[in-house]
Amino acid sequence: MSRIEQLAGEMRLAEKLGQLTMTAAPYAVTGPYVAGDLTEGIRSGAVGNLLNLYGPDMVAKTQRLAVEETRLGIPLLIGLDVIHGHRIQFPVPLGETSAFDRDLWRRTAQEAAREALADGVAMTFAPMCDVCRDPRWGRIVEGPGEDAFVGAALARAKVRGFQEAGLAACAKHFAGYGAVMAGREYASTDMSTRSLHEVHLPAFAAAIEDGVMSVMPAFTELGGVPMTANRELLAGWLRQERGFDGVVISDYNAIAELIRHGVAADLPEAAALALKAGVDIDMMAGAYGGGLPVALERGLVRIEEIDAAVRRVLKLKERLGLFEDPYRGHGAEPEAAITRRRALAREAAAKSVVLLKNEREVLPLAGVRRLAVIGPLADAAAEMRGPWAAASKPEGQVSLLEGVKAALPGIEIRHAPGVAIEGDDLSGIAAAVALCDGVDAILLCLGESAAMSGEAASRAHLGLPGVQDALWEAVFARAHVPVITILFSGRPLVVPKLAGKSAALMAAWFPGNEAGHGLADLLSGKISPSGKTPVSWPGAVGQIPVFYGERNGGRPYNRGDHYTSHYMDVPNAPLFGFGHGLSYGRFAYAGLSLSAPTLKEGGTLTVSVVVRNEGSHAAEETVFLFLHDKVASVTRPLLELKGFEKIMLEPGTQGSMTFSLPGTAFRFLGPDMKPVFEAGEVEILIGPAADRARLISASVMLQAG
Ligand code: BGC
Repeated sequence: MSRIEQLAGEMRLAEKLGQLTMTAAPYAVTGPYVAGDLTEGIRSGAVGNLLNLYGPDMVAKTQRLAVEETRLGIPLLIGLDVIHGHRIQFPVPLGETSAFDRDLWRRTAQEAAREALADGVAMTFAPMCDVCRDPRWGRIVEGPGEDAFVGAALARAKVRGFQEAGLAACAKHFAGYGAVMAGREYASTDMSTRSLHEVHLPAFAAAIEDGVMSVMPAFTELGGVPMTANRELLAGWLRQERGFDGVVISDYNAIAELIRHGVAADLPEAAALALKAGVDIDMMAGAYGGGLPVALERGLVRIEEIDAAVRRVLKLKERLGLFEDPYRGHGAEPEAAITRRRALAREAAAKSVVLLKNEREVLPLAGVRRLAVIGPLADAAAEMRGPWAAASKPEGQVSLLEGVKAALPGIEIRHAPGVAIEGDDLSGIAAAVALCDGVDAILLCLGESAAMSGEAASRAHLGLPGVQDALWEAVFARAHVPVITILFSGRPLVVPKLAGKSAALMAAWFPGNEAGHGLADLLSGKISPSGKTPVSWPGAVGQIPVFYGERNGGRPYNRGDHYTSHYMDVPNAPLFGFGHGLSYGRFAYAGLSLSAPTLKEGGTLTVSVVVRNEGSHAAEETVFLFLHDKVASVTRPLLELKGFEKIMLEPGTQGSMTFSLPGTAFRFLGPDMKPVFEAGEVEILIGPAADRARLISASVMLQAG
């Protein structure tokens, strides 16, 4: 008999429910309730899994209670939010997405996993697969930005990276969380079935295809049905349709919150709804341990349903090798591993920065002898970690100021913060502005604090917090030299005036431990910027949601025609659209060619294009491929991403890039929501960003049969 069957046969009800319970240890606080001492709960078998615990000694001590002091000796599954690094932080996910580099995404996940495993962690609650088009939502920082294709690519790379290193991944938050109403955290979601399937589910489908071991339902309700109790999507789409046979783990206290949602009267009802929908592990609600015995008595659930969930949890523990090696954390890693990880963090930081503007090629810095580095984020090392900093300590990060000093040793560097990130104290502005006299360039480092994005961090005003506007206005009033603005944030900020005034503008997001070095590599010209924004930067909050994958509508904007879709006070287009990002190179596209003028569903189309670097610096370009199906049985987005690839080019050189598109890439969900491949002309557009004016195109005729 298999180990799982034998254990399942021997388990008492309380022990089974213990395997379906995950309780938070107090080493990281990620939710509103924290449990007390867990020793007795673990010993009795009532707590079979933990989150927010790490460190080899703590893990070994705690794991020993489960392995050596419980009746059945089943090891604990220990999870932690290893979102963008464990002790060493890489850029926040939205930042790292800007690199559009599948290999980088995978390598940083592997490194984070190795470090977490050494600390005794067996599971991460990542990747977050929530596509989001509303930067008011603070959690936009944790995900892939606005596009479903990018979301799927990122999910695959992260799942592979974490899991090939041995850490279980968890695709979250299933599904639609990124569409919370008005960008307000934990609010309801309500969307068409088409949006759900076209925009929000593909990243989960990709994670499942690549073998993700667990999935976490979102806190939110979708059209009246809380996701924690959503049978149609959990039992139906996820398990039956997609064949997911891993563990579904609730979000923090989410099962008990079914009572507040108003779909359960008490804990037993809430527990029954979640279990029946397919939630295996109850994180922090005490609903399975406390509610399922009563639910069984009331006939709301069957013991077979509990057993099925228990088997899935035990199977996960077995897959992870926990029975063989429960004391996973082997502690300190060799120095070489840490050096390698820091080098990767520096590479990732540099690749994640998006150069949004570079007027008259003011960057890279050249001929600068005196530099003023001003602003509250210039020397804010700990902020560089961003939200969800797992086990990192607030020391050990490199601030921009430190990085620039190290990279430009011969230069006189003057620094003053001017103002704090938040608050209304203007008293430091005069001293900061005085530094602008006699310098050759000014670096202005502005933005949000790390805590202003992430969970429970929605904002309605997306400008700079505090009195940072007063600081930059004073700096521009005084400055006679180029001002280079570097924005640190977990979301696109709405700063059109500042963008207009700055000679150069960089979106640094939160670059992680090596922030200062990565940024200095770009500012000094050692490396060319190559990031592109995976989310549109609105010019006004009122444009939100603004994203590239719009549909035309019957009255698309037509200048001079009043009765067409527009605002009276701002343009329709964002300030910086999806895919925008400059480099120190200058790329030209030509020679778009298709392998055939026609394509059948079972065939493959090869698309090639030549990219040339006409600039004077070596640089890396991300090339995007979009489709536009002009006439179909349902309306199609004006641009739909179907591919992206990178190419590194020395000045004056060119390279040819090839995309291979299977016929299935041209399918879409028809009027009945089933995938169809419709005959007719489809435009293929290639170029540097989701901006039709900068794309070159060719057409293919799709043929039925
Ligand atoms: C978050 C999840 C996270 C969990 C555990 C929740 O509050 O929504 O994303 O994985 O806490 O820390």
